[in-house]
Amino acid sequence: MKKFFGYAIAALMSCLLIVACGQTNPTTNNTPNSPSNSQNSIPIGIALAQTSNVALLGQEEVTGAKIAETYFNKQGGINGTPIRLIFQDTAGDEQGAINAFNTLISQDKVVGIVGPTLSQQAFSADPIAERAGVPVIAPSNTAKGIPQIGKYISRVSAPVAVVAPNAIDAALKINPQIKKVAVFYAQNDAFSKSETGTFQETVKQKGLELATVQTFQTTDTDFQSQVTNAINIKPDLIIISGLSADGGNLVKQLRELGYKGLIIGGNGLNTSNILPVCKALCDGIIIAQAYSPELKNEVNQAFRQIYTEQNKKEPPQFTAQTFTGVQVFVEALRTLDKTTKLSTLALPQLRTQLNDTILAGKYVTPIGEISFTPEGEIVQKQFFVAQIKMDADGNSGKFTFIQ
Ligand code: ALA
Repeated sequence: MKKFFGYAIAALMSCLLIVACGQTNPTTNNTPNSPSNSQNSIPIGIALAQTSNVALLGQEEVTGAKIAETYFNKQGGINGTPIRLIFQDTAGDEQGAINAFNTLISQDKVVGIVGPTLSQQAFSADPIAERAGVPVIAPSNTAKGIPQIGKYISRVSAPVAVVAPNAIDAALKINPQIKKVAVFYAQNDAFSKSETGTFQETVKQKGLELATVQTFQTTDTDFQSQVTNAINIKPDLIIISGLSADGGNLVKQLRELGYKGLIIGGNGLNTSNILPVCKALCDGIIIAQAYSPELKNEVNQAFRQIYTEQNKKEPPQFTAQTFTGVQVFVEALRTLDKTTKLSTLALPQLRTQLNDTILAGKYVTPIGEISFTPEGEIVQKQFFVAQIKMDADGNSGKFTFIQ
């Protein structure tokens, strides 16, 4: 009765409150499981790259968000009220992310946003959420400086500084003779610039020779001159910071032009969607991981089971991180609702209190037990390294964990 009364008030106060106003939006893709047009659901925005080359990463993230929506709604959502994910495609550029954020904030009236896919997009779109007082949880932005954009910005994607060096350690274990290193990075991408900084510092700290630094654009498809420059200095290790399509093509051309040594791919190559790009030549790429399917806790076991049943393979890092982003919103909303009934809060207050609750919480998630610094940086315990193993036919392959 009390609950019903609460909902009646919520409906009366309409758009002031957190519950959806029942607007229809032609660009909104509600998932099949969402109670669309429901007055009694809590809208969370999902701003990811569903189209463009960046969708090679974004599609894996959308999958994680959808699994989380179904999983947490089966548990009763937010103390009995379901969540409703509202998807806005950011595509691969800054303007797409800005448009998606504006729509989610002003039109869809979400309580918070999981997104965007790229750090490059976050540096443009996050300030909009910051000014509007809307909490953002980044599922895959790993460049230095993301949480520092503002007090409403946090992330569940551990930064390059703590993830990337693990790949160099793994390469040195495989080949302790490594001395000369060639580094490649995409100079038009904020994450790639940040990650190469970490890789280059780590190379020097380990006493290795940083023999050449080659640059490219994420839109490039021909890397012949950079590859030739690198091969001429006979490196023992090549490290690439780029995104999936360009990174996959670069690996392919390095092998085609005769490079035989180890290759490290950065976080932008961390998807099996690069396998159709470099095919058999992807074999052996080393990539650091902020997730392992083997992580032992209840929520990861459930997440892994749902994912493997649907996809017949192990869940990738971007899917696990995006599930985690939604989970953090869900658990913080539950906590807040227990102290202050959500339906009594006007949307601006709800967004602010939700942000405070997110930052104060501890969460057991598929990527392990996590919390946040007061600035919104993730505190995460475990990292891993995987190596791509291609099947004999060169058409399929998988990430094998080596560390
Ligand atoms: N980790 C990549 C980025 O931050 C996807 O842009």
